Amino acid sequence: MATALTIEEPETNNETNNDDGEKTEENDTKENDANVESNPDEIIKLDTPALLTVEHMRLCKHSFDRLCKEHPTAIGKALSKRQRDNEKLRGVHLAYSEIRFESFAIVLKKIQSKYGGFQEPGGIFYDLGSGLGKAVFGATLLYQWQRCTGVEVLEMLHDGARELADKWDRTKDGLLYLTEGQRQTVIDLMNEDFLHSDLNLSDATLVYMNSTTFEQDMLIKLASKCEKMADHTFVVTHTKRLPSIHFNVMEECRLMQSWGECSVFIHQRKPRDWQEDRRIREEAARKKQQEEEKEEERERMEKEQEKADIAEDKKAAEGAAGKTLDGIDS
Ligand SMILES: C[S@@+](CC[C@H](N)C(=O)[O-])C[C@H]1O[C@@H](n2cnc3c(N)ncnc32)[C@H](O)[C@@H]1O
Repeated sequence: MATALTIEEPETNNETNNDDGEKTEENDTKENDANVESNPDEIIKLDTPALLTVEHMRLCKHSFDRLCKEHPTAIGKALSKRQRDNEKLRGVHLAYSEIRFESFAIVLKKIQSKYGGFQEPGGIFYDLGSGLGKAVFGATLLYQWQRCTGVEVLEMLHDGARELADKWDRTKDGLLYLTEGQRQTVIDLMNEDFLHSDLNLSDATLVYMNSTTFEQDMLIKLASKCEKMADHTFVVTHTKRLPSIHFNVMEECRLMQSWGECSVFIHQRKPRDWQEDRRIREEAARKKQQEEEKEEERERMEKEQEKADIAEDKKAAEGAAGKTLDGIDS
């Protein structure tokens, strides 16, 4: 309970002596308390600001920092390194870094306010390569999802994320500003390779990839999974675009992450109608080209026929003239 209240409480000042009888800060606080007590709706407003407003993000950041206090980025790096060293795992894609909460919140806000996302509560969030789960818990705090799924291949990181999930379960009821729906959000942490054929993204509303070190062939495979997503859904990548013609890049912005600034790409799934339109346009263009080619061929044949006719006429004329001369000669 303490988390939301601590943030929401006005800073109190214990000064009480005001010889002129002016309102002191202590009196102000008492008045505020009285107002809040007399108007229960006000309490709800104070504790539950609209999702993704500045005030809401501030509350979430505070809760995020408390949740992740014992699991800083350095722990993620150390766990990742230990498992890679122990198992002699190679691959730059396994390098560990994390989202920065504020940047992550900005991305969600942009999607909501500029690109029409998150208008209705619900939806499924995926973080591919979820590490300690920072994006999963950032998402859970910032918006009301039906489910937040993190997929992480390294077991030690996955176990770390599970610890955070346990802490979340123990502490979320104390976050008074969470909506009832947010308390019900399913946290789904999978210890899996995200390229595994069983991972189906067709139900995703937002797929997040902190993809700076993901190799291109990996991104191509991820892109084809993302193509199964519904029209107008979103994919966010770091440093590299999603290699897919089925997504529009709505925005590229520079945002800080745990290791420094990088490009963040916000993609939106093109509507299937668009694909249908394109297919129809391509078909029409193909037909037009075929007709033009046919027309050219017809003109060429006509010209050849004309030439042949002229040649034949000429030959016939020459033949007739030859006969006459023959006649004269004879
Ligand atoms: C840069 S970290 C991002 C961690 C987390 N998403 C965040 O932003 O805080 C990338 C993570 O992807 C994981 N990873 C790389 N390849 C993977 C794969 N094929 N399947 C699942 N996880 C993978 C790495 O182990 C690493 O933890």
